[in-house]
Amino acid sequence: MEERITLSVIKADVGGLCGHTIAHEELLEACEFVLDDAVDEILIDYYVTRCGDDIDLIMTHKLGIDNEKIHGLAWKAFEEATEVAKELKLYGAGQDLLAEGFTGNVKGMGPGCAEMEFVERPSEPIIVFCCDKTDPTAFNLPLYKIFADPFNTAGLVYDKSMKDGFKFDVLDIYEDKQITLKTPEETYSLLALIGNLEKYAVKRVHRAKDDEIAAVVSSEKLNLMAGEYVGKDDPVAIVRAQSGMPAVGEVLEAFATPHFVPGWMRGCHWGPLMPVSEEDARPSRFDGPARVIALGFQLSDGKLIGPNDLFEDISFNRAREQALKMADMIRKMGPFQPHRLPEAMMEYTSVPQILEGLKDRFEDTEKIEKIEKLRERGDME
Ligand code: 13P
Ligand code: 13P
Ligand code: MG
Ligand code: MG
Repeated sequence: MEERITLSVIKADVGGLCGHTIAHEELLEACEFVLDDAVDEILIDYYVTRCGDDIDLIMTHKLGIDNEKIHGLAWKAFEEATEVAKELKLYGAGQDLLAEGFTGNVKGMGPGCAEMEFVERPSEPIIVFCCDKTDPTAFNLPLYKIFADPFNTAGLVYDKSMKDGFKFDVLDIYEDKQITLKTPEETYSLLALIGNLEKYAVKRVHRAKDDEIAAVVSSEKLNLMAGEYVGKDDPVAIVRAQSGMPAVGEVLEAFATPHFVPGWMRGCHWGPLMPVSEEDARPSRFDGPARVIALGFQLSDGKLIGPNDLFEDISFNRAREQALKMADMIRKMGPFQPHRLPEAMMEYTSVPQILEGLKDRFEDTEKIEKIEKLRERGDME
């Protein structure tokens, strides 16, 4: 049997410099130190990066997805980084480590996680996307474009290996249920679901003809898991490209026209998703707008060759400009919808408690009308 490689991207926010802006260099170094120790033991290779205040551990190995050793390693890296964050009194030190200790899998414990296992192709281009100030549903629209929209992905028309389309695994975030829909046949049903960013998140995409894994998103809803809001689910995603998958440029094209995503400022606002370089992933205007970076790698027997910082390209300058224009426009709405998220989607907030406190002061409008009328009559008499 051909040997399978696993690519695991596990992320967490364990402290910001300053506020929620970026992860301190020393936190990245603490993580690198832990991962470096694991190379040749359990890891083949790794790359540590950040997007805003989130640290992203990109790891390759042969242990498969949901592996306890790999998840434990990531947890250990984040714990070490948390120690540094506490020493430096960084903001929100240990924010995403919700559990006291590691119990086998980071899922449900705070960090986000996207993993895929496959037989490495003769040439294996992959793109790792890391975001800040948004949530996993930010990938719904671009994944649709990449794998189902021929106006974005010319290969859907020109490459016979893609003509059978793709299958989308969609999660119901609240019910913890999943459905699989196939494009192009079920395009409209798929859009009926994933156009609703309140409830549905794309988790995985497979190529229909052979079920080969094509994309995966970290779709854990941290705020729902914790019961009360503690951190945000700033997501990561992995997409495989070329040779029977969309080309690298087709994958990136889905980010050339920015779209609105939830998660800006206190996780309470809609804002544009701005594609940026690693260097520019430092969201500071109104804690945003939301950022996405795209790191391109070639795998070579599991070694991560790269990264190529793909959104650094000047051809994304216009997308950035457009995102900033969209930001100016929607910021004018302040605390009004549609800038403000619906209550159920709001994260860092005590709005539910504030509304609860006003509950007793609401009076029945009919009763008020009656009292008014009585008063008027009394005045007349
Ligand atoms: P090359 O001919 O440079 O390999 O490019 C093919 C391709 O996929 C371009 O989108
Ligand atoms: P993070 O989830 O990135 O920590 O940001 C919190 C936030 O919403 C800051 O405005
Ligand atoms: Mg933070
Ligand atoms: Mg963050």
